[in-house]
Amino acid sequence: MKTAEIKFNYHLFDDGALLAPEDFSLLQNAREMTQKAYAPYSSFLVGATALLVNGSTVSGTNQENASYPVGICAERVLLSSAAILYTDIPIQTMAIACHNLNGQSQQPVSPCGMCRQSLLEYEERMKHPIRLILSGMTGKVIVIDQAGQLLPLSFGSIDLH
Ligand code: THU
Repeated sequence: MKTAEIKFNYHLFDDGALLAPEDFSLLQNAREMTQKAYAPYSSFLVGATALLVNGSTVSGTNQENASYPVGICAERVLLSSAAILYTDIPIQTMAIACHNLNGQSQQPVSPCGMCRQSLLEYEERMKHPIRLILSGMTGKVIVIDQAGQLLPLSFGSIDLH
């Protein structure tokens, strides 16, 4: 028997203003995007903006539905748009921000399990890592070098062959 360990490093900033200017501007854009969320059921507004390797940006927000499971997260709205608008252009960095109508929006939002699976496949499909910048509307920021790190021992296309 062997015991294995999975570790990864991530980066913590006390405030978005301490990020590199390009990253801060992407985060600010994701924060603004929260206003375009459609989240009448959870009141949890999520905005995501990605910078592609060609310099373009694509955004997404969560889109809920009265039939709750029909709702889709901001990250997957973004990935679907990027795949159509910029087919074959990898995403370099994705900033994700959340706004809680109860005023608790200083904690970084972290992608749900389903989004982690989608992000991983997007990375594999584009053969390019996606950096993640996670934050609330204010406060600390987490930067992750590669989205797939959030889903160790993952299931992927290779398992189907
Ligand atoms: N949500 C996202 O859009 N992204 C995340 O990373 C976490 C959760 C959405 C789904 C749902 O509309 C609401 O937030 C509450 O779960």
